[in-house]
Amino acid sequence: TGLKELYQDDFYLGTAIGHARLTNPPTGFNALVAREFNALTLENDMKWERVHPQPEQWVWEYADKFIALGEQHKMFMVGHVLVWHSQTPPWVFNDKNGNPVSREVLLARMKSHIDTLAGRYRGRVHAWDVVNEAVDEDQGWRQSPWFKQIGPDFIEHAFHYARAAAPDAHLMYNDYNMHNPGKRQCVVDMIKRFKQTGVPIDGVGMQGHIGLGYPDITEFEKSIKAFAAAGVAVHITELDLDVLPTAWEHIGAEISDNFAYADELNPYPDGLPAKIEAQLAERYAQWFALFLKHRDSIARVTLWGTGDSESWKNNFPVRGRRNYPLLFDRDYQRKSAYHSVAALR
Ligand code: XIL
Repeated sequence: TGLKELYQDDFYLGTAIGHARLTNPPTGFNALVAREFNALTLENDMKWERVHPQPEQWVWEYADKFIALGEQHKMFMVGHVLVWHSQTPPWVFNDKNGNPVSREVLLARMKSHIDTLAGRYRGRVHAWDVVNEAVDEDQGWRQSPWFKQIGPDFIEHAFHYARAAAPDAHLMYNDYNMHNPGKRQCVVDMIKRFKQTGVPIDGVGMQGHIGLGYPDITEFEKSIKAFAAAGVAVHITELDLDVLPTAWEHIGAEISDNFAYADELNPYPDGLPAKIEAQLAERYAQWFALFLKHRDSIARVTLWGTGDSESWKNNFPVRGRRNYPLLFDRDYQRKSAYHSVAALR
């Protein structure tokens, strides 16, 4: 049996699948995913820059393959993502001379993108991340091209377009650092406003890129409660647990470049010490205990990858680090974190 069976009365358990695993899975990988998980997200290949790189060019090969894989195993399929500021090509926002297009033109481009993408997988993608990361911490709305060229109502337009294109899909707003009180308030206000004015929002995604020492679990819990009370389903959409020291001051750098203190930035090149392994397992158990406590509000918990070698956290925010944030090791063996999560059920 797998985790999905242990948690079947609680919530969907999902994983994200990256380009390499989708196109060239190691032996046994698909069987493991089907055994452990009953929800699937595509890590990158449905993002605008991948699926719609040029105005007249759509790349369906990988998204189609993802849908086929999920359907084969009757999984809950998550579409990621329709509208985001990141991994979106510049042509979306600009005219041929590189000048920003008008509100009307940008809304038309958004609508056409959503119509085509969500429309293609109508009835087959069960939930969409409609808008991702529109809130900028405590400072209100993120100053993205979407916001600047359309205004804050770009979000509600995206939800209306998504509902029209895929009437049966569960529509979500997704963001990181959702434990942050400023973000919580902003998102709760948005949900309430949407409910009052008939904007179709069904769920909120809390990404869940956490670490050994952050975020404050009680603040995270307050957000779960606040979103549920506002009337939407809560999804934990991108769970991973970083064991490395934070290194924001070096964002984008390469570990092999020029670091005199590379050891500090990449402390576990040969494997995780038993002590940290135990901390990781304990921390995962704490988080899943929280999710179980709120199982009536939580529809799904999705890990942002299956085995540690897949994780973007090996390369973020500094490239070339070796990280251990997931439930399976680099040989796809169950880690102690897996066993601690399983032991709760
Ligand atoms: C990440 C992927 O994991 C990486 O492979 C990619 O290079 C960058 O994006 N929030 C999101 C995800 O919503 O789409 C991001 O995924 C992680 C942060």
